[in-house]
Amino acid sequence: MVKFLLGLLIGLLIFPAWGYWYVRSGRMPVATAAPPLPMERQLAHMALNFQIEKSAPEKPGVPADEPNLMAGAKLYVAQCAVCHGVPADQKSAIAKGMFPDPPQLFHLTGVTDDPPGESFWKIQNGIRLTGMPGFKDSLTDTQMWQIAQLVATGNKVPASVSDFLKKNAPKD
Ligand code: HEC
Repeated sequence: MVKFLLGLLIGLLIFPAWGYWYVRSGRMPVATAAPPLPMERQLAHMALNFQIEKSAPEKPGVPADEPNLMAGAKLYVAQCAVCHGVPADQKSAIAKGMFPDPPQLFHLTGVTDDPPGESFWKIQNGIRLTGMPGFKDSLTDTQMWQIAQLVATGNKVPASVSDFLKKNAPKD
């Protein structure tokens, strides 16, 4: 019993002491260019996914028709393109320098495999400590749904919307 308590005490002391040494010795990655810690991405996304499962709305607030996608594209160009890019464009200087990487939403599948409600939640609330801002104090629900439908449609947006996005690529 005494041995067990002693072991417990040492265990409780060693972990915080090691943690303090790790940070104090300048080993903890703080630069955006530093490689991720083991499991950093998985742990961060696990917490995010649990919260979204609980609170993302299921029924889209607007249909994914041309007028809504075009309205979404105008907002996207103003608020999102500098980090998330437009179809057929290089990453901006800002996007290149961020950690974690802002996914390029019109490349490959982007977030077309996520339900629009999940992207709506991310646009509304942001993702803490990643650089992804929350927009609930700046955009209306309708505007956030228009953008969510745009990114859920991805490369399958009508040609008019795709042309608009390409013409309004962020300037480096
Ligand atoms: C300053 C840069 C920045 C801006 C501006 C920004 N985002 Fe993000 N966004 C990020 C980063 C970084 C991530 C990655 C977060 C992570 O890895 O968890 C992200 C993640 C996302 C995701 C989740 C992607 C995935 O693969 O699950 C969506 C959807 C998204 N952003 C949409 C938007 C929309 C729409 C806007 C504009 C209304 C926007 N973002 C504005 C930086 C930005």
